[in-house]
Amino acid sequence: MTYLCQLSELRHDSAIGLDPWCDGRDTLIALRYGDGVRVFRNNCPHYDVPMHYRKNGFMTADGQHLVCFAHGALFRPDSGECVLGPCLGQSLKALEVSIDDKGSVWLVG
Ligand code: FES
Repeated sequence: MTYLCQLSELRHDSAIGLDPWCDGRDTLIALRYGDGVRVFRNNCPHYDVPMHYRKNGFMTADGQHLVCFAHGALFRPDSGECVLGPCLGQSLKALEVSIDDKGSVWLVG
């Protein structure tokens, strides 16, 4: 398993970028959703490019959707499904995570 972050670092209304493999850029997006955590690859299904234009700039101002700043596609934060924009109906790639009893979030697999 790959360590990602602490649960306490994640919020419901904003997402953070993570670089767990030291690629020099945030390849994953993580946020709280309900009692759990959602982690997606930071690749828009429209053109397979990173979603953000600034550090941790992954969500709309109202905190309701993930957004790709290239062409404005909106994604559900629970499923990663695009609900508005040029990749409507496509989804961000979701990754499985687990949370241990110390509040550490791990990528499974
Ligand atoms: S590259 Fe993300 S909406 Fe076009």
